[in-house]
Amino acid sequence: MKKARIAVVGYGTIGQRLADGAALQGDMELVGVVDVAPTLATRALAERGMPYRLFVAQEEQRKAFDEARIPVAGTMPDLLGDVDIVLDATSAGIGLKNKDIYAAHRLKAIFQGGEKNDVADVFFHGYANYEKGLGRDYLKLTSCNTTGLIRAVDCLDRVAGVERVMVTIVRRVADPGDVHRGLVDVAQVDKVPSHQAVDLMTIMPHVEATGLLVHVPTTHGHIINVIATLTDHMTRDDILAAFSAHPRIRVVRIADGFSSNTSLFKYARDLGRPRGDMYEIAVFEETLALSRREVMFAINIPQEAVVVPETIDGVRAALRTQEDRLEAVGATNRYLGLRAQAEARR
Ligand SMILES: NC(=O)c1ccc[n+]([C@@H]2O[C@H](COP(=O)([O-])OP(=O)(O)OC[C@H]3O[C@@H](n4cnc5c(N)ncnc54)[C@H](O)[C@@H]3O)[C@@H](O)[C@H]2O)c1
Repeated sequence: MKKARIAVVGYGTIGQRLADGAALQGDMELVGVVDVAPTLATRALAERGMPYRLFVAQEEQRKAFDEARIPVAGTMPDLLGDVDIVLDATSAGIGLKNKDIYAAHRLKAIFQGGEKNDVADVFFHGYANYEKGLGRDYLKLTSCNTTGLIRAVDCLDRVAGVERVMVTIVRRVADPGDVHRGLVDVAQVDKVPSHQAVDLMTIMPHVEATGLLVHVPTTHGHIINVIATLTDHMTRDDILAAFSAHPRIRVVRIADGFSSNTSLFKYARDLGRPRGDMYEIAVFEETLALSRREVMFAINIPQEAVVVPETIDGVRAALRTQEDRLEAVGATNRYLGLRAQAEARR
């Protein structure tokens, strides 16, 4: 079968990880990445010997890369003429502007959470609404928190039905290395409902949701406290078994030392994961409590890598490489090593 040819536009926090994720897929080929300036990520790419070909968005940007001695393979139109689909991971709002360029090349595109929903035909999640993405031209991924939240709620929904969820999100203020938000000592609250709750209802319209967002001055991961009202009765063990069986959900124990966002980041580094990335969300086992049909649990969202699997699912849906949701997510999981890792944990 012909490999799906992929371009990643915007080689920043998310773009670097999408490029790595796409390159790992046996049925896809990462043809190149695009950026506009010699950022640290593109400098690191050059120092690593250019494992991916780098293109500039516009010819006039080439000079700065030449000065930084970062090899440039061409301009974005050269790359777009040679691919089947674009993964746009540019800074929020740029994707909408780029959409016209993708359309002119008759290319499908997948946008990230920072874009407005109307950039795409479908607001997409690989597990929760794969079928809606089938054959569509423009998909938009949920944000990092929403991706992880929906993974957990969809997992419960498929085994027990979920009627309602209420969440509290403790949100990391910036990515590691970012200083543009300042060095602060504050927990700032937003008005309800948070966009993640509204987005969850867009993807899973049968679930009523609301949520509170608290910004905190950390950079490694968000924590979401979820209270979900189940349709069917489930025991605590049933719920833990459902989460444990999900290749993109890791059940961890506080008793084993997994007591924080940073313990998971450190563990990912100990596993030898590039950059300390974790594709899986983690459910803290000892936070899971059941009261009648209400279940409460806390999850860790590794914000930099969590959207990679569902974005790859988006490629499969848009290009119809798999018609079946579970075959599609299964292929992504297999190539990312998620299935093997889940089996090793059992
Ligand atoms: N950082 C996270 O934790 C996170 C998590 C999930 C989703 N997202 C979303 O992913 C998207 C990207 O966010 P990020 O954190 O990776 O941003 P980032 O700033 O780290 O990276 C964006 C990259 O795009 C490049 N760029 C800007 N304009 C461009 C253009 N016209 N053409 C090509 N490249 C261009 C920038 O130089 C930069 O390297 C946003 O929609 C964001 O909301 C971010």
